[in-house]
Amino acid sequence: MHDEAQQSPARQLEVVGERLQEELKRFSNIEALGRAVDLAEAENQLRDLKDVRTKFLGKKSELANLKKSIGRVAPEDRASFGQLVQQTEATITASIDEAEQSLKKRVESARTERDSIDVTIPGRRPRPGHLHPITLMRQRIDDIFVSLGYIVEDDREIETDFYNFDALNIPEGHPARDPQDTFYTTEGFALRSQTSTVQIHAMQRRGAPVRMIAPGRVFRRDTPDPTHNPMFFQVEGLCVDRGITMAHLKGTLTEFVHRLFGPDTKTRFRPSYFPFTEPSAEVDYSCFNCGGQGCRICKHSGWIELGGSGMVHPNVLRAANVDPEEFTGFAFGLGIDRTCARIYELDDIRLLFENDVRFLEQFR
Ligand code: FA5
Repeated sequence: MHDEAQQSPARQLEVVGERLQEELKRFSNIEALGRAVDLAEAENQLRDLKDVRTKFLGKKSELANLKKSIGRVAPEDRASFGQLVQQTEATITASIDEAEQSLKKRVESARTERDSIDVTIPGRRPRPGHLHPITLMRQRIDDIFVSLGYIVEDDREIETDFYNFDALNIPEGHPARDPQDTFYTTEGFALRSQTSTVQIHAMQRRGAPVRMIAPGRVFRRDTPDPTHNPMFFQVEGLCVDRGITMAHLKGTLTEFVHRLFGPDTKTRFRPSYFPFTEPSAEVDYSCFNCGGQGCRICKHSGWIELGGSGMVHPNVLRAANVDPEEFTGFAFGLGIDRTCARIYELDDIRLLFENDVRFLEQFR
């Protein structure tokens, strides 16, 4: 190994040039390896190259020292050494400039690559969802009642006993209050077992007169079978005004089934009992498939059950601060799931909540 101090200045210049070439090799390495040029890597290299420039051409560089030593060279060699220094400086500058140019190009092409979009790549086909059959059914029902002047109420699914029972004239000890039939939260709230709870909320909120429907989920401790689910949908209807009679109830539900199933559809009202209506009636409609002749869909009876109905009990009006001496009203509660099952000819309402995509896709 040569001690640099013993090397001739000319040799020292040569060594500087060699070292530079050695350093510059790493800046062309990426291309030599044939790798895709990473933008961050190319930018880092550009920064590193700046340091190399300072190291070889800066004020404290070896070259700068050699420049300063020109004056100390023997006069006969001074001119030629001076020239050699200049040449070396020019060569170093040119090499670094060249490396810089090629690095800048690489940064630019890496940037272009990052920002470019390949328009020839096939797009991802969007898979649009669609509405659930219950939602479709709900919308059809909403549309009919809205066109009859009803507003749509959306209310809570978790209730106090007051709204689920007391205000609906279901006293303590009534079989409907049996915990065997109703789900309760650990805090003692009931999961509403019918949308009739919204009758009370709507009258308290809006007073009378009022005309509203309230579609929504209800919960009962029913064992699942082809016509029962522990969670299902009902739509409540309430019309309270001066002089409302059973005739208005019959007219309204008859108009509803005409619009839903066709103008030839008939209704049938059977006496029934609900604590919150007096008198009460079950409502049936003539089968939309056979027109009442009897078929598989109506189980050969010619009739299909729509739900419960009746004239709002005075105690219910009172519980909601409506004066029963001034106002009367009718109410009804229809099962959406069973109606939906009939319309789409489903043998089993449990299909609606099994979330089998092959089933649901048919409602697209
Ligand atoms: C009621 O729930 C009353 N609140 C209806 C009512 C409202 C009467 C206003 C008077 C005035 P019911 O328990 O019959 O009534 O239920 C109404 C409808 O809900 C039934 O006709 C049926 O379509 C549906 N239904 C009842 N239980 C289930 C169940 N487990 N699964 C699916 N649908 C059910």
